[in-house]
Amino acid sequence: MTTNDWFWWQRPDLGYVNGRLHLQQHDLQTLAESAGTPTYAYSSHRFHANWRRLAEVLAARGVPHKLFFALKSNRFLPLLTFLRLHGECGVDVCSPSELLLARQVGFRESDITYTNTAVSNADLDVIARHPGIQVNCDALSTIRRLGERCPGRPIGLRINPQLGLGYNDALHYAGAKTTKFGIYLEHLPEAMALARQYDMPITRLHFHAGSGYLSPQLDTFERILVENGRFLSQLPDVTTVNIGGGLGLKLTADGHALDLDRWGDLLAAFAQEWDVTIQAEPGDYLIKDAGVLLLQVTMVERKKETLFVGVNGGFNLQPLSVYYQTPFVVVPTKLRDGEMQPTTVVGNINEGIDLWAENIPLPPLAEGDTLAFLNVGGYGSAMSSNHCMRGQFSEYLLLD
Ligand SMILES: Cc1ncc(COP(=O)(O)O)c(C=O)c1O
Repeated sequence: MTTNDWFWWQRPDLGYVNGRLHLQQHDLQTLAESAGTPTYAYSSHRFHANWRRLAEVLAARGVPHKLFFALKSNRFLPLLTFLRLHGECGVDVCSPSELLLARQVGFRESDITYTNTAVSNADLDVIARHPGIQVNCDALSTIRRLGERCPGRPIGLRINPQLGLGYNDALHYAGAKTTKFGIYLEHLPEAMALARQYDMPITRLHFHAGSGYLSPQLDTFERILVENGRFLSQLPDVTTVNIGGGLGLKLTADGHALDLDRWGDLLAAFAQEWDVTIQAEPGDYLIKDAGVLLLQVTMVERKKETLFVGVNGGFNLQPLSVYYQTPFVVVPTKLRDGEMQPTTVVGNINEGIDLWAENIPLPPLAEGDTLAFLNVGGYGSAMSSNHCMRGQFSEYLLLD
């Protein structure tokens, strides 16, 4: 890897200024010193820019649309409040607690989509008390039990397009193997009959086929849209198609990005063909590259041939990358002079899998330094656990 490649992740609002890492003009070393570590910091500018970028791609093509931030990816209250106060983007929730949180932050019911799996009666009771939220039913059982509670309520159907996409197979939510997610085409007649029985018009289709799709997966995305057509042709009341989340980001120096122009073109053609409004509920795409995790170097020690750098936080603070093997970037907040050397970064949890990165090129480090983990804004704090009772961290929203 050349030195230039090492800096591939830099962008105007994230990079080194005089050897010190800045995000949205905030010096992250200074933040680590004042806030302590572990600390997540989120750039409000980047978060905003990410949803604006998607909205503009769709608006430029005349696609009627509405975006919803998938709250499961990050529920830091200041971030949600920031989103709400901008008033441009709703939220997507997947549990009663997330629904109530969204309401506490001030989201209107009409700005909330709810897509849940293995729904309990208790879940449905909460949904029934919120008649204005947009529910997507992902099983026949959900339609029946929701119908018993609120006959006449318009519903969405989460469908299973039998095609998956994402950073890797583990992140595919549909495909050749039958999954728990959504209603299959062969069960559509039963779904329609149940909806009719309870007088519930089906006004929306929903799919979420996986997380982390990039340009090479856009052919599959196109086929998923075609698959949607097979449902739409039988559902005359549908006015909206929710394409879920799953948009991916370039995560490595030589990795792919997502061609948003082609994405927008595909959606424009689809929306025009079926005369539907497009909804999308991205989580990671909006917050992943807006968030960094700051950890302190606790140990620098060579064991046999390996240079280990220990930090004061483990995989329990960012489980996504361990569950799904998604890459992230590790860099120091202050660059020291000296040769890059292969370095293995490990956390403070007594588990063999607590390996942040193996043999990555890093400049010299010393105990007490701070490392910044980039592209970890999604599914970090939200998924974290208190394993080994090391679940403590703080979170900061970076404003101007
Ligand atoms: C139904 C649904 N919508 C949206 C999302 C958000 O996905 P992502 O964060 O990959 O955009 C998920 C994530 O699993 C999901 O299950």
